[in-house]
Amino acid sequence: MTETHNVIIDTDPGQDDAIAILLALASPEINVLGITAVAGNVPLGLTQNNIRKVCELAGRTNTKVFVGSDRPMKRSLITAEYVHGETGLNGAPLPEPTMPVQDQHAVDFIIETIQRLPEKSVTLCTLGPLTNLGNVLEKAPELAPRIKEVVMMGGGLFEGGNVTPAAEFNIFVDPDAAQLVFKAGIPLVVMPLDVTHKALTTKARTEAIRSLGTQVGKVSADWLNFFERFDEDKYGTDGGPLHDPNVIAYLLNPGLYSGRHINVEIETQCELTMGMTVADYWGVTNRAKNAIWVTDVDADGLFDLLLERLAYFR
Ligand code: RIB
Ligand code: CA
Repeated sequence: MTETHNVIIDTDPGQDDAIAILLALASPEINVLGITAVAGNVPLGLTQNNIRKVCELAGRTNTKVFVGSDRPMKRSLITAEYVHGETGLNGAPLPEPTMPVQDQHAVDFIIETIQRLPEKSVTLCTLGPLTNLGNVLEKAPELAPRIKEVVMMGGGLFEGGNVTPAAEFNIFVDPDAAQLVFKAGIPLVVMPLDVTHKALTTKARTEAIRSLGTQVGKVSADWLNFFERFDEDKYGTDGGPLHDPNVIAYLLNPGLYSGRHINVEIETQCELTMGMTVADYWGVTNRAKNAIWVTDVDADGLFDLLLERLAYFR
């Protein structure tokens, strides 16, 4: 019997976020309770708009979309148009969405959902800065034990950082929120650059998606072709790292991944290393282990799964 996951996706689309959302919407094992927008790759007005564009592309206009935090908890917002383009979904223009956003604020939706549903039944999949979840924990810290698990894309150790030498973008944008999350005692599964850099959108993989011959296949391949150019130039690779879909793929098939349970702390004081995930991979401290730090993926298995599920959209 395949496990069903009750999931809130917190996201800042972003082409890779968009493909992660499509993967979730195509998978019957994932019950998407709601999708919450956060400022990150592009400002909040665009990320909430982009979530709705993706839901309409997927034909899932009944998905509940909530607008969240428009800036980090303490620091100024930093965005990444240089990677994702000015809309955040450059590469494949989509019509302006007509489906509504919900009136309830994303933070209040997350709080209300965790309070309402049985304890340890809600999984949070975070694909962007952790601002919304940080605000949840600041507003209602007593809810932390009720959360089943947070599966996040963020951080880096062996791969260093991607926005500074020390920090990965999602953590760097809101290190204060990240610190609240990593100290909350919630079971964490972290997909850092160490694993996402092993999931490259090679030409063969991107063209296999395009060969689906559907609108979703074409749009997804066009998004990847735009999104990957920055990292291809930077790393000199065939394709760029596909970050966020790893979060959803982990829920669908955890056997694709391997990692270890370690201590991870967040730098929030020193500007030089701000947002660094200080991951005690070799156990040199006696700090409490608080996260599964994923370092390896069966990349062919990931893309086979992605292709199989994207084919769901006709
Ligand atoms: O560093 C990669 C992360 O930052 C991904 O989630 C990407 O979408 C951006 O948000
Ligand atoms: Ca993202």
